[in-house]
Amino acid sequence: MAILKLLHLLSAVIWVGGMFFAYVILRPAAVDVLQPPERLRLWRNVFQRFFVWVWAVVGLILVSGLGMLHSYGDSAPLYVHVMLGGGILMVLIYAYVYFSLYKSLARGVLAEEWKTAGGVLGQIRRWVGINLTLGLLITGLAAAAPYLG
Ligand code: HEM
Repeated sequence: MAILKLLHLLSAVIWVGGMFFAYVILRPAAVDVLQPPERLRLWRNVFQRFFVWVWAVVGLILVSGLGMLHSYGDSAPLYVHVMLGGGILMVLIYAYVYFSLYKSLARGVLAEEWKTAGGVLGQIRRWVGINLTLGLLITGLAAAAPYLG
């Protein structure tokens, strides 16, 4: 259980922390410093690297989370079920971002269709904002749960 919880927690930190850095720090810095074509090339490169890690931690969060859930048998607390639902929603949103939006962004950047790629990047930003909010809420719930009685 301790190893599962460690893998689970580190995976959540990498995923949520990565989204926080991208959304709150890198995004405004890229707008300040780079012109749209360079900015779009940067984001395609950033997502290409970050998404490899996200696939790894999504797998670890699901395996460790379901493993811990299994160890509860029929008596898992409500917050773990909320986490399961929220976790699955985050994974579905990430899958949509990866298979649909990121693929379109990559095609747009390669074809130097900056207007189209810019529009897709705006959609990715919105969904990453939603997943960041969900991740922070789930982590807060997990941390507060032992004190909620
Ligand atoms: C398939 C989805 C998930 C399942 C089944 C799941 C299940 C669990 C379980 C059973 C625990 C241990 C509760 C305990 O006994 O203390 C746990 C802890 C935790 N989970 Fe999840 N989880 C899932 C997704 C997530 C996601 C997406 C995040 C964050 C983005 C997250 C963050 C945490 C945190 C921060 C803890 C607390 C660890 C601690 O107490 O040290 N989980 N989760």
